[in-house]
Amino acid sequence: MCNEDGFIDDNNTSGLIDKIGVYYWFSIDSKNQRLIAGVGEARMETAIYTYQFTPCKSVKSFLESLQSVELMPNSTVKPLRLLRDPVTWTVPLYVKTMEELTMDDIAEGYYMPKANLSAVSQQLYESIGGPNFQLDTPEFPDFAKAIQHSIVTPGLWCYERLLAKATEFTKEPNPAETYLRITLGENNGDSPGIPYVMEIWPAGNYSPVHNHGGADAVIRILHGSIQVSLFPYLSADGVDPFAIADFGFDDVTWISPTLNQVHQLRNVGTEACVTIQCYMYESNDTRHYDYFDYIDGDGSKKQYEPDSDMDFVAFKSLMKAEWDAVEASAAAADAARMAIITSILSSPESRLPRRWWWCLPRWWGDTRHE
Ligand SMILES: [Fe+2]
Repeated sequence: MCNEDGFIDDNNTSGLIDKIGVYYWFSIDSKNQRLIAGVGEARMETAIYTYQFTPCKSVKSFLESLQSVELMPNSTVKPLRLLRDPVTWTVPLYVKTMEELTMDDIAEGYYMPKANLSAVSQQLYESIGGPNFQLDTPEFPDFAKAIQHSIVTPGLWCYERLLAKATEFTKEPNPAETYLRITLGENNGDSPGIPYVMEIWPAGNYSPVHNHGGADAVIRILHGSIQVSLFPYLSADGVDPFAIADFGFDDVTWISPTLNQVHQLRNVGTEACVTIQCYMYESNDTRHYDYFDYIDGDGSKKQYEPDSDMDFVAFKSLMKAEWDAVEASAAAADAARMAIITSILSSPESRLPRRWWWCLPRWWGDTRHE
């Protein structure tokens, strides 16, 4: 083993991939005495090759003695980064706080403890993870309903804005491949675009496959549900997702510079989904790449500059005005129905048998928002 001969595993059938944007990882795990290679993000889900040593002290001490990785002088391999820890298990996608985590959660590895997120992601979580960070509030309890109504009603703002964005990611109009970005606050320069974005996903809509400028991010579901497909790397050649996960109300997921960075969101539900996303560069990120790269309808890699469809305060006010108009219209319709019924019942010519009166409320009952 301690010589310059190459190690060839005759049983291995996987290896290099001929796709644009591909990169690889290699994990040396002295504790578990295991070598693993993979494609794209360094995680078990993308592993393509594992070599398990027969555990013994000499192998362990050899692996522990490794101090550096050197490339051959004429190597075409371009090192990207050195990660401290070996790849050992599947990365949990759902975040839970200390108050929520159980012993079973830790043992099963299904949830990411908030405390295990990066310092930056924990900071983001602290901003949007609180109990009062809700879409529907006492002063506007029908905010979610108002958004849904605005999405499906021609002439209202969400409907028209989505229509106008039908060519955002494609040359040919594709109304399903877009969503609304409602921003909270200003761009402080420490994130791609404005750091806090409320995203609105109509039923059936989806994003292109995209990355996040190498930033940290935390995403919380404020209403409805969203399906997230994760990809090992961003490629114009098309890559299959290695994981698909569904997130419902109040679920929180995360993105780091090296994990969960490439994804596609899709609303597979029957009503609008509303999420809050927040982004921030790591403190050691001196590049501050201000774009999300994405794959467009022709399969080309493009830059997307995270923009804003409207400021949150203005949007909430607009949705309230649209919803108030709906309520006023419904109230007027109710009043008109009531007037007609009252007129019929009070008419001396009314032939409506008294025993039918009990069902009247069903005739003129609330049919709003259908
Ligand atoms: Fe995204």
